[in-house]
Amino acid sequence: MSFRILGTGKSVPDYVLTNDEMATIVDTNDEWIRTRSGIRERRICTTETPSTLATQAAERALKDAHVSAQELDLIICATIRGEYISPAEACVIQKNIGATCPAFDLNAACSGFLYALDVADGFFARKRVKKVLVVGMDNMSNSLDWQDRSTCVLFGDGGGAAVLGEGDGLLSIHITAQGDYDCLAIPRGENTNPRYANGSQRPVLKMNGRDVYKFAVNAMSKGLQKAVDDAGLKQEQINWVIPHQANIRIIDAAAAKLQIPRERYFCNIASYGNTSAGSIPIALDEMNKEGILKNGDLIAMSAFGGGLTSASCVIRWNKD
Ligand code: UT7
Repeated sequence: MSFRILGTGKSVPDYVLTNDEMATIVDTNDEWIRTRSGIRERRICTTETPSTLATQAAERALKDAHVSAQELDLIICATIRGEYISPAEACVIQKNIGATCPAFDLNAACSGFLYALDVADGFFARKRVKKVLVVGMDNMSNSLDWQDRSTCVLFGDGGGAAVLGEGDGLLSIHITAQGDYDCLAIPRGENTNPRYANGSQRPVLKMNGRDVYKFAVNAMSKGLQKAVDDAGLKQEQINWVIPHQANIRIIDAAAAKLQIPRERYFCNIASYGNTSAGSIPIALDEMNKEGILKNGDLIAMSAFGGGLTSASCVIRWNKD
């Protein structure tokens, strides 16, 4: 017995930062950003904080699932940077929604939401839980070098959530990691210990875009293929793919290596950019709320990101 998805939710900041406005911040232009990444605009926190986004996404997922906060047995929040170093963002969510269950964070960068589904699956398998809240949220605008045009144009803020209940909706899942902090990393920042000065690095994202691109296309195409194979399915049977929304060219290149028709890949990158751990659950919620998903649909999801990590799965949609 594993889980099925009972409900979804999302939360993005109100402020829309367009490519044209981005061109007033760094030396870039709408045409470059659109053609190189597929991004037209992104949402950026102004009054919102990581906890605003995570809590709102969680509350909306609970409402959609018709599940109360008191019914939850576990909360996992996938994020690289919650409101506090401690407590975990999942504990902040727990307090805000009025739950009483165990809660912890998980850091697998953009693959975090799918990593969290795999962890949740283990809790269901051991019959430790009946209802689990999984949130994926990141506040990337707070970890960017706003003078580095090669990175700051690519990311946005946002979070999504899913409530899981017992069921047989998860058909396959696998996760990978290869330790590599040369091509994608966000350093911790200055060490303020007075007895041990280790120099300071600004806590902003550094990325070798080309290396990440190559990793991403390979991880997404191979990951989707393995997830579909492990589920005992043929690629043509997959109704929808929810790819991590990092770059439309990565999605196109991965899709070109597979037999799943390109129109079955859901893409909302134009509106949000790369929201890291928020990317897949935001897309899942939009498909759910827009009525795109039908019971019985087979959905393949695939993500990659800092670590370098990757994760892919297949679920059967079966929501009341
Ligand atoms: O969740 C994981 C997160 N990361 C990713 O998914 C990133 C994966 N990588 C990528 O998506 C792509 O590599 C990028 C979108 C980051 C870059 O695309 P690219 O086609 O690999 O461009 P490039 O880095 O080779 O840069 C091409 C040119 C350079 O100019 P020169 O050297 O050819 O004169 C850059 O300086 O584009 C320039 N450039 C820009 N120009 C205008 C870089 N950023 C910008 C910009 N606006 N924002």
